[in-house]
Amino acid sequence: MTDSAPAPASDTESPVCRRLVGRTAVVTGAGSGIGRATVRRLAAEGAHVVCADIDEETGKAAAAEVGGLFVRVDVTDPEQVEALFRSAHDTYGSVDVAFNNAGISPPDDDSILTTGLDAWRRVQEVNLTSVYLCCKAAIPYMRRRGRGSIVNTASFVAVMGAATSQISYTASKGGVLAMSRELGVQFAREGIRVNALCPGPVNTPLLKELFAKDPERAARRLVHVPVGRFAEPEEIAAAVAFLASDDASFVNAAEFLVDGGIAGAYVTPL
Ligand SMILES: NC(=O)c1ccc[n+]([C@@H]2O[C@H](COP(=O)([O-])OP(=O)(O)OC[C@H]3O[C@@H](n4cnc5c(N)ncnc54)[C@H](O)[C@@H]3O)[C@@H](O)[C@H]2O)c1
Repeated sequence: MTDSAPAPASDTESPVCRRLVGRTAVVTGAGSGIGRATVRRLAAEGAHVVCADIDEETGKAAAAEVGGLFVRVDVTDPEQVEALFRSAHDTYGSVDVAFNNAGISPPDDDSILTTGLDAWRRVQEVNLTSVYLCCKAAIPYMRRRGRGSIVNTASFVAVMGAATSQISYTASKGGVLAMSRELGVQFAREGIRVNALCPGPVNTPLLKELFAKDPERAARRLVHVPVGRFAEPEEIAAAVAFLASDDASFVNAAEFLVDGGIAGAYVTPL
């Protein structure tokens, strides 16, 4: 497959819609990749954005760029996560949107045959336990207002298996998907929507790092992407903004694929 669909034009980075004016959005993993692009997009749509990251430098930069609030947080720590949502509420008066997005994909999480218990547990903590903690902390604020939108970052690997396994990562994302569905059902009548965002492979440091040393592995993956390229972070951010907004008022407990058609494809290698 040599052709690929064009990446979005840069003018899509200046959306005309202002769907989030007056809303407060908390973004974890705000300093990089999908989180960073989403911070920009939510702010452009009018939201107050609370930028949470374990990396102080990048998180602060993200907040400074949009005039938002930076909170340093390790999303695996219950007290720090509670303090994050408390700060958001105390600063802006509400928590309307939670984009629970921080995640890791370390190289020692690989085939089940070689992945040790330490790597397994670390990935579960950062990718899955963190989402549990963030939802647990955010939902009470949303219940008070009778509205809220939670978007939890899963992955397309939550709905299909990869031959190039990262066993704990995949299992963690399956957990995010199942948890989001259940929370969406439980709190729907209180005006709180919970959706799992399932991005396909994105041009971010996480993926670049993974494949930089292994171009053959990257090429093997691209064969499976109908549009013939990885996503730009801005394309994922646009989906988050939609899910966060009232335009998605009937989208709940969904596995929201933004994957360029990967999960729908039956591809025959050349
Ligand atoms: N990049 C992809 O191709 C892709 C595809 C599908 C899903 N995802 C998911 O999207 C999310 C974001 O991925 P990305 O590619 O933007 O990654 P990234 O590495 O560019 O950014 C992740 C951010 O999370 C932060 N972080 C890591 N551990 C943390 C912790 N314990 N506490 C607080 N912050 C922490 C990092 O400092 C970093 O700023 C992840 O959940 C990832 O699994 C990524």
